[in-house]
Amino acid sequence: MPNPVRVAVLVSGGGSNLEALLKAKAAGELPRVEFVRVVSSKPGVFALERAKQYGVPFVVVERQAFADEERFQRALEGALVEVKVDVICLAGYLRRLDRRLIERYRGRILNIHPALLPKFGGAGLYGHRVHEAVLASGEAESGCTVHLVDEEYDHGPVLAQARVPVLKNDTPEQLAARVLEQEHRLYPKTLRQFTEKLV
Ligand code: GRF
Repeated sequence: MPNPVRVAVLVSGGGSNLEALLKAKAAGELPRVEFVRVVSSKPGVFALERAKQYGVPFVVVERQAFADEERFQRALEGALVEVKVDVICLAGYLRRLDRRLIERYRGRILNIHPALLPKFGGAGLYGHRVHEAVLASGEAESGCTVHLVDEEYDHGPVLAQARVPVLKNDTPEQLAARVLEQEHRLYPKTLRQFTEKLV
């Protein structure tokens, strides 16, 4: 694996996890990582402002700009290959990656999920739906998971988890905020450990 490790971050929204990663890099906590590109599936999202603020080049690759899913997926792949990406971090990316992309980067795509996988993962479980499901289940704790991406949603090997308590009378928003605080610590820490181990 080359040094530095060239990382792309894929986003679709606010990008608070993106910012946690970029902040960690600025603080010297990701010595082996170079963030080479941010790719957004949506134009105008705040994540792009954060990329700008930290001086990381960004590009929008949105499904609507392409005639079909295949062309969209190849454009996404092109946007990664073009800048010689080694590792991909999904940070609130809301589109599916196709088999070809997953195969090409197998074992080098990380995702963060706002629950303790394998619980509360899978198609349809994203955003506040995750926290609503946790509260409805009566679980005493929740948390977040960084895992490797494979062909199934929220399924690949777990790299790290952080736990938070579920408090009596929690709203989904309160639980989400408590989990998000942990996400912002866990993702940079896990990316550091992951890149340190790459050979
Ligand atoms: C986070 O909760 C993350 O776990 C999930 O999507 C959310 C993204 O938030 N995959 P942000 O865009 O990083 O603020």
